[in-house]
Formats: sequence, structure tokens, C-alpha cells
Amino acid sequence: MRDFNEDTATTAVLERLSGCEDPRLKEIMTSVITHLHAVIREVGPTPEEWMTAIRFLTETGRICDDKRQEFILLSDTLGVSMLVDAINHRKPSGATESTVLGPFHVAGAPKKKMGDTISLDGKGDPTWVSGRVVDLDGKPIGGAILDVWQSSSEGAYDVQDPTQPAMNLRGLFTTGPDGRFFFRTVKPSSYPIPTDGPVGRMLTALGRHPMRPAHIHFIVGAPGFEPVTTHMFVDGDAYLDSDAVFGVKGSLVVPFAKTDDEKKAKELGLRNPFYAAEHDFALARAR
Ligand SMILES: [Fe+2]
Repeated sequence: MRDFNEDTATTAVLERLSGCEDPRLKEIMTSVITHLHAVIREVGPTPEEWMTAIRFLTETGRICDDKRQEFILLSDTLGVSMLVDAINHRKPSGATESTVLGPFHVAGAPKKKMGDTISLDGKGDPTWVSGRVVDLDGKPIGGAILDVWQSSSEGAYDVQDPTQPAMNLRGLFTTGPDGRFFFRTVKPSSYPIPTDGPVGRMLTALGRHPMRPAHIHFIVGAPGFEPVTTHMFVDGDAYLDSDAVFGVKGSLVVPFAKTDDEKKAKELGLRNPFYAAEHDFALARAR
């Protein structure tokens, strides 16, 4: 290949994959190269525009560290994370739907007992979250683990906000034989995804807002069942129809009912009035 030009470029690069011994890698790279070349042909970037793209990706990598994952944000805000999720989780009907993991999950959250609070600083509107983990026949699943994490009532995760104690608003709960779970927390609020990096600048340039509707994150799993990475969204939130990362599914929107009941609040160990949200997770058997 000595005459690499507009017409021969794609064929020339694809021919170089002939020695690739990993068929899946070859398939993926063939598609990536073909589509990337098609984008370049279609938009015809100037060299300056192409350098802007290179700089954007460079900055996206540079801002990443053990707590900040800008590439996940990029994937999320372009709808790619939800598309990958949709393709990989074509669940049997009745199973709880999945949504984005997001960039703020931390492994090794503290183990809690049912009824414990995950709010270490008590800041925000007291909230009671409860429900059951069940199979597709509605039978309770004992020994299910719920990995829970959420933002503060000010819309920041502990890893973003040095004023919060470490592991604030995170916890691991294990269900008993009745499949029930219940814990205390504070009502989450809608929040902007981080806007101080290249992805935030991209959203501004595209005329998009960075907001996510209020939600609590869950990964729910049990031996013998497919785990689900999902959210509980707060019904009534202003951003349910325009989530910056396209994560909302109607089945995951849950009423957080304001409850004014001094006796009940005392029973649950909450300040009155409080919010109460109830939602079941249904898991499909592992294939
Ligand atoms: Fe989140």
C-alpha cells in the first residue's frame, strides 16, 4: 500500500488486521475503523477541528483518577452506557430493569443491619426505604445483598465532597429468609454531573443541562440469580424526562411519600415528618 488516499484509506487499514488472531478483537476493530472513517468522510474536519477532538479526549483522560472517572461520564452523556446496558440486559418480563452504574460506586461499603441508617451526618430530610427482594414468581429471596449508595440532600457524593464523612450514604444490606429490606437515609436530591471537566464543557457547548433526577443507586444480587444494577428514582422530580445520562425507566420511579406521624417516626428512629419509599426488586434466575 503506497497510495493511501480518500478512496483506499479504509481498505488499507482493514487489510492490516489480517494477522489479528483474536476474532472478536478483529470484529470490533473492523467496525470501529469503518465507522470512524465514515465519520471523518461525512464531517470533513479541518486539522484544527481534529486537534480539538484529540485535546478533548486527552483532557478526558487527564482528569481521571481513582475517584474521578470522566470517560464513564462521557459514555453516559452520549447514551452509550445505557445502550450497552440495554443490549446486555434483555431481561425476562417481571425482572427489575437495570440502569447506569454511574461513576460514584465504591467497592467495600460498610455492612449494615436492616433498619440502620446510611446517613452518617444526618443532614437532609429523613427517609425510610423498604421493600422486598423476590424472584419472578414473587417468592422472597433470602441472602440477597443490596449495595446501596446515593448523593447527599445537597446533591454530592461523599467522594466529591470533603465535608462529608467517608462512606457517607453507602451501605451493604443482606436480606433474611423473608426477602425484606429496610433502612434509614435522607431524601436524595437531583444533582448535576460534574461540570468542571471536558464533559461538562461539552454539554454546555451542546446546549444541554447536566442534571440527573434524584435517585438511590442499588446493585442487588443473590446466589443463583442474575444481579441487577439499578436505581430508585424519586417520583415528581423535575428532571425525570431529561436525565443527562438517559437512565430513567418508568418502572424505577417510586413515590417518596411525605409522612407526618410522630409515633411511626419514633418507632422507625426518624425525625418527624419523614419520607417513605417502598419498592421491590425482582431477580431473574441465573442462566
Ligand atoms: Fe447517582
